[in-house]
Amino acid sequence: MSQPLRVLLIEDSDSDAALIVWHLKNAGYDVAASRVETAGELRAALADPAYDVIVADHRLPHFDAPSALAMVRESGHDIPFLVVSGTIGEERAVAMMKAGAHDYVMKSNLTRLAPAVAREIGDALARRELRAAEAERQRLEAQFHRAQKMESIGRLAGAVAHDFNNLLTVIAGYARMGMSQVHPADDLHEAFTQIDEAAKRAADLARRLLIFSQPQRAEPRDVVLNELVRNFEKMLARVLGEGIQLELSLDPGAGVLHADPGQIDQVLMNLAVNARDAMPEGGRLRIETASIPATRQIQIGVSDTGIGMSPEVMTRIFEPFFTTKPEGKGTGLGLATVYGIVKQAQGAIEVASEPGKGTTFTLRFPAVTPQPIDCPAS
Ligand SMILES: Nc1ncnc2c1ncn2[C@@H]1O[C@H](COP(=O)(O)OP(=O)(O)O)[C@@H](O)[C@H]1O
Ligand SMILES: [Mg+2]
Repeated sequence: MSQPLRVLLIEDSDSDAALIVWHLKNAGYDVAASRVETAGELRAALADPAYDVIVADHRLPHFDAPSALAMVRESGHDIPFLVVSGTIGEERAVAMMKAGAHDYVMKSNLTRLAPAVAREIGDALARRELRAAEAERQRLEAQFHRAQKMESIGRLAGAVAHDFNNLLTVIAGYARMGMSQVHPADDLHEAFTQIDEAAKRAADLARRLLIFSQPQRAEPRDVVLNELVRNFEKMLARVLGEGIQLELSLDPGAGVLHADPGQIDQVLMNLAVNARDAMPEGGRLRIETASIPATRQIQIGVSDTGIGMSPEVMTRIFEPFFTTKPEGKGTGLGLATVYGIVKQAQGAIEVASEPGKGTTFTLRFPAVTPQPIDCPAS
């Protein structure tokens, strides 16, 4: 069986191009060749380089292999680059190799081409795998650091919130005692009322802090995702303003996850409120469910058509207290809470966003395998 091979030829001579292709076909490749002759054509070809190998003539009327090689390397694509030449001297061949060419082959000895291509494709594949492994390692490391940071901040916030709550109970208690002891018309009564109200708001903040720092209070059970989303829709209408259109796209096979339904509601609510805030001029909020059988996961996507985020903002959004909203509007606890809840439910959360292009949060949870129902034989 012949192996497909996509070749980009940098070559001005028809007959040389045909000869190169012939040698590759002869070696058993199923060759799909494209040809360029100028820098402009090469640039266009590199915009979407679906090539396994580049074979360049050393010298062309309007172009040459060293410049072509420089362009390929600058493009950042790791495609094996082989130079073919009738005249290349040893010195220039060495210079090409030093500049990053993978091999050079004499036109008088083209039988060397196919084995060189095979070797270089193998090496390129190995390099690609190495890069993928390294990227994955870095991703996991970053994820680990993020998780560690969240955990320590969470623990700190939890401890603060706990002590804070105790103090607030004392403050509110004395405020109410004061209120009961002065006449409602007395100025002091109003002062005690203000203290009591501020304490209530502070207690609410402390409660939110506790939720994200101590998600072990969850009461997980099996939840049919689509049902949860449909129930949530009713709550949502009140939150979204006039100009925001809600779109649900529920995969009937989305399935069941194991989590505290109240917490998943809260996750959706926090994401929806953020989406609303990101669309002051109106827009569309889309909630999508899906199942991913390959990984036995169940997925929820929440997307908006709002202002989006810069990469810098995106790296910080899950940090507690990180907010870009004006004081009094944002607490910076919404996504920290979402993160805590999702992690607790053994889920994962991803975000994709671009300034001006909207934002999509994607959540994945392990799918609960349905238990077979025993039907009594009749
Ligand atoms: N859907 C979204 N579109 C644009 N930015 C968002 C979105 N969701 C979150 N953000 C950014 O993430 C920050 C943190 O969000 P969050 O933790 O919910 O805190 P808050 O909403 O109180 O600011 C927001 O201030 C905002 O900059
Ligand atoms: Mg928020």
